[in-house]
Amino acid sequence: MSMVIEADGIGRDYGKLVAVDALDLAVGQGEMFALLGPNGGGKTTTVGLLTTLLRPSRGSARVAGYDVARQPAEVRSRIGVVFQGPSLDEHLTAWENLDFHARIYKMPRAQFRQQAGELLALVELAERQHEPVRNFSGGMRRRLELARGLLHQPQVLFLDEPTVGLDPQTRRAIWEYLHTLRQQNGVTIFLTTHYLEEAESCDRVAILDGGKLVALDTPAALKATLGGDVLYIRTTDVQAAEQLLRAEGLAVRHIAEGLAVEADDGPAKIPELVALLERSGHAVQAVNLRRPSLEDVFIKLTGRDIRAENPDAAEVLGRKARMGRGPRGGR
Ligand SMILES: Nc1ncnc2c1ncn2[C@@H]1O[C@H](COP(=O)(O)OP(=O)(O)O)[C@@H](O)[C@H]1O
Ligand SMILES: [Mg+2]
Repeated sequence: MSMVIEADGIGRDYGKLVAVDALDLAVGQGEMFALLGPNGGGKTTTVGLLTTLLRPSRGSARVAGYDVARQPAEVRSRIGVVFQGPSLDEHLTAWENLDFHARIYKMPRAQFRQQAGELLALVELAERQHEPVRNFSGGMRRRLELARGLLHQPQVLFLDEPTVGLDPQTRRAIWEYLHTLRQQNGVTIFLTTHYLEEAESCDRVAILDGGKLVALDTPAALKATLGGDVLYIRTTDVQAAEQLLRAEGLAVRHIAEGLAVEADDGPAKIPELVALLERSGHAVQAVNLRRPSLEDVFIKLTGRDIRAENPDAAEVLGRKARMGRGPRGGR
């Protein structure tokens, strides 16, 4: 497989803060690759580095065969970017927003018209193409940003939290478009997310925490590192119950719903755990058995629950102001 993205120890500091430490990544042509991590993990900074918007503090990366620091124009002409924050011109229509982008990329007019028509149909905005974007819902704007990212037929599409803040129906639609695109024209998709179920449907997942890669593999392989089953236990006095189970030598983690306990043979472990907890005066309210999910992998590797740190609206909006507004945005 030929590599479309190759990062070699790339990193970025903001003053004393190490936002991204030293990433090694290799993403192949046609892959759908997810960078998964909590808020502040370094996802947007990584996208900034790979899309030439941010200068690396160390290391290097090649995207579509060109060095991001030394050949940024070559890189930019071969990538599409969907930013975390809004980046459309509200006063222009959907079509005009695409047209503006096409002119920046010096697309031939006939090619622009054909691509724009196809993409607007793909994201189901053909009927609204001559309305100003200020009339559009959040989901419609996101779909238009996706179409714009694809307009100049990039070899790699970068998407920074493409579905954050969208309703479930729009999130599903965006995923359908992405899978269709990948199938139809083999575009490489590099996306960031903090939604575990989204990372689950990607070919490979890199988990980024505190600017460091803590894991990189297929979802199946990541889950296989946990082995066995995970038991979810809801009980009174979760803290004390956690201590009790830990004292028994069990791999136990505190999550939103209660406790997660690793067990080689989950079904056999249930009565044993319930007896143990009840002997110590805990009332067991529910026990659930699940195959390990990416969420369990995340908690095991980082010691935290990813959902405890979701970006809130203020964070997303604040970033918009800092990130610049397009491929020509500031460094
Ligand atoms: N322009 C900036 N100036 C200073 N610190 C920043 C800037 N952008 C991001 N950071 C910090 O860098 C770290 C990584 O941020 P970011 O890449 O936005 O993470 P994520 O996208 O995963 O939420 C965070 O601690 C964040 O506060
Ligand atoms: Mg971000």
